[in-house]
Amino acid sequence: MPPTTTSILPGPHPSDAHESTALAYTEQVFRRLREPMPPLGYRVDWADQPSRHKIHEGGTLLPLPQRCAELGASLDDAIRLSSLGPEAPPGGGVDLARLGDVLGAYGLTGRRLQLNWNEDARPRTSATRSVWARPTPSGGGMYPVESYLVTGDGPLPAGTYHYSSAHHALDRLALGDHRHRVHRALGAPDQPDGVAYLVAAVRFWKNSFKYNSFCYHVVSQDVGALLASWRLLLAAHGEHAEPSLWFDEALVHEALGLDGLHESAFAVVPVRWAPDLVPAGPATESTKVATAAPASREDEVWERSRVTRGFAVVDAVQATCLAGADTRPDPGRAAEGGVTDDAGRVHAWTALPPPTALAGDLGRVMTARRSSFGLFSSGRPLGADELGTVLAGTSRLRHAGTDVAPAPGRAPWTRLHVLANHVDGLGAGAYAYDEAAHRLGELQRTDVGRFAQQHYALTNYNMREVAAVLVISGRLPALVAAYGDPGYRMLNADVGAQAQAAYLAATALGLGVGAVLGLDNLAVDELLGLDGTDERSLLFVLLGHERVGRASYSHSILAGSSEGHRS
Ligand SMILES: Cc1cc2nc3c(=O)[nH]c(=O)nc-3n(C[C@H](O)[C@H](O)[C@H](O)COP(=O)(O)O)c2cc1C
Repeated sequence: MPPTTTSILPGPHPSDAHESTALAYTEQVFRRLREPMPPLGYRVDWADQPSRHKIHEGGTLLPLPQRCAELGASLDDAIRLSSLGPEAPPGGGVDLARLGDVLGAYGLTGRRLQLNWNEDARPRTSATRSVWARPTPSGGGMYPVESYLVTGDGPLPAGTYHYSSAHHALDRLALGDHRHRVHRALGAPDQPDGVAYLVAAVRFWKNSFKYNSFCYHVVSQDVGALLASWRLLLAAHGEHAEPSLWFDEALVHEALGLDGLHESAFAVVPVRWAPDLVPAGPATESTKVATAAPASREDEVWERSRVTRGFAVVDAVQATCLAGADTRPDPGRAAEGGVTDDAGRVHAWTALPPPTALAGDLGRVMTARRSSFGLFSSGRPLGADELGTVLAGTSRLRHAGTDVAPAPGRAPWTRLHVLANHVDGLGAGAYAYDEAAHRLGELQRTDVGRFAQQHYALTNYNMREVAAVLVISGRLPALVAAYGDPGYRMLNADVGAQAQAAYLAATALGLGVGAVLGLDNLAVDELLGLDGTDERSLLFVLLGHERVGRASYSHSILAGSSEGHRS
């Protein structure tokens, strides 16, 4: 029986007999363009917005080596290695330079100065309101995910570190080896030598000041986008990473000195130091296990906002989406949330040309990645080969594993549909992508430009100019039935990862791209025939060619790289 929704949320909800907070919340999320979510009348106080960077005042900064412009591995290589699971050939571990490349996924690469359709096109030219580019996208450009490292026996003094995205440096929060707390949180048997832990934690106010109740939906996808970047960057360095999504958050918060309220851990990724960086022999004064938990450093965080606030709905969903001390569900559970590339609703199939190579160096592709924000042009249709290559590359990353759904052979939790608008050889309409046969199944012919324009809530894209909309969907109630509310958080991590994969695949082909949440989910579900099923559209990615000859100013801050302008 599908899980039901709860009545604890303020505002409209369908039935008081329901039990899942996550499902009640997402019903509000999906309806939000028709019935605004509470708090009604919320006004964003832009003058009092938080900083995009978490900074500890008086912290001890350890500069990281500058990110490599080129990593020596293509996007294809990185995607392939990511989906192998433990069958991946053993890598050589990471050193500080490689770790810097990975953490740099949320670091700054340059200033955004291209003219586009965003409302901030003018203010961003002022130094105090500048907008900075990062390799990973984030809903609304809020970057709420904070990266941490917990290490004990590698090239750094044993300790807990925060990645300072403003400085591309590690901020030391505590000395001593606190890995045992993370280790216990993961429920892992033995503490392996030379393993450190990356933690992705969400600092809610960085997003909620803008999106209020909608925050949780966005940040849980943002986490997925960052995890995809980490996974691919580690793979480019020969390292296979399998993020843990199910762990006792309280123990991880203890290791990081977090209170779990302002900020909460969403994922842990074990990384291996290169063996020659791990000292042999017994623990020394600087590597011995720290028994006392590090003190909270929250008081030292520079909070730019004079007034901060919480949102009851976000707190409620966050509370029920925690895994806590519950035992990690058996990996066999993952199949319960699996999607099938079903043929039931399809009228006719169109074979796609074989995908071309995503041969661009991952480092360069990541640096060039950006959202198109209104720059699409219908003047040049999207080639079926281009669309097929983005679909194939993006879909492939669905097979990458996690602790709850290990690779190889995991059941993907998301799939892709296409709303084709200007695609060579494809009539305008809705299609389902069948990854195994690399073909598109026609669901319905329709004027997609008109449909998408009518159902897009913002003014920063002209949907009629967009060549195709990728729809990332998943069986949300099935995952909540299998895992409880953490199933929602874990599904959204996959959704965000798909978005980043699509961004990178499109960028590698020189296409314009942009993730959007602002399309009416209910209308899209109806168009795709998902409304009578347990599958829901969760995020959209716009694709197409961009107008040529666009005005911009190159302001890269990485040596040996350009901002990746394609004009
Ligand atoms: C989960 C997610 C949701 C997003 N939703 C929207 C959206 O609704 N509208 C939009 O224009 N951009 C959206 N974006 C794109 C971000 O605004 C963009 O990544 C951010 O502003 C940084 O710009 P960049 O991608 O050019 O680096 C989304 C991105 C992510 C990862």
